[in-house]
Amino acid sequence: MNVLVILGHQQAGSFNHAIAATVVRVLKDNGHTVTFHDLYAEHFPAILPAEEVPQDNAFVDPVIQQHCEELTAAEGIVIVHPNWWGMPPAILKGWVDRVFRPGVAYEFSEGDLGGGVPTGLLTTRLALVLNTSNTEDEREQLVFGDPLEALWVDCIFGFCGVPNVHRRNFSIIIDSTLEQRQGWLREVEALVNELFPVS
Ligand SMILES: Cc1cc2nc3c(=O)[nH]c(=O)nc-3n(C[C@H](O)[C@H](O)[C@H](O)COP(=O)(O)O)c2cc1C
Repeated sequence: MNVLVILGHQQAGSFNHAIAATVVRVLKDNGHTVTFHDLYAEHFPAILPAEEVPQDNAFVDPVIQQHCEELTAAEGIVIVHPNWWGMPPAILKGWVDRVFRPGVAYEFSEGDLGGGVPTGLLTTRLALVLNTSNTEDEREQLVFGDPLEALWVDCIFGFCGVPNVHRRNFSIIIDSTLEQRQGWLREVEALVNELFPVS
């Protein structure tokens, strides 16, 4: 399977980097073709400029065009990022803003200016979102409503036609032990093996 892996974390050596490295390693071991982007390391240009705001004659930066082609070609997608204020880091939000373009990720039917219900265009069948946070899962859900769940499952992947979205949040990171983090990485490995088995 052709799998796109996107990491949105600012620091090499972080637990998020360890998660992404585990994902990439297991995918490759299982025979999948991996396209990996560490958005911070690549200095991904996250700000959507006015001339690129979706419209028929919009100018699309070649870097973004390349990302769009990779998104279109992806049969599976894995997203790795920490919870920042119930949102992804801005660089990853910018990746969605610029790469999930109309005509690439979704479209509206003829005559619909964008107020209706779109058709998802992604042929990706399977997405996995791996998050980290410093909040107990129960508190995240009860107090904050777990915004990352709705964001990825409904607002982004659901909107663009990806039917099968799995998400796992690892917490609490800040005072976790080495053993806990090693256990979580084994969980990542098992999850990737289950969802993206040997091809
Ligand atoms: C700007 C910022 C905002 C954050 N907001 C939240 C938050 O809303 N909820 C939460 O549980 N943790 C929050 N955190 C903590 C991060 O989720 C935590 O540092 C990260 O998941 C740890 O992973 P790492 O060891 O790979 O950096 C925030 C951290 C930063 C830097």
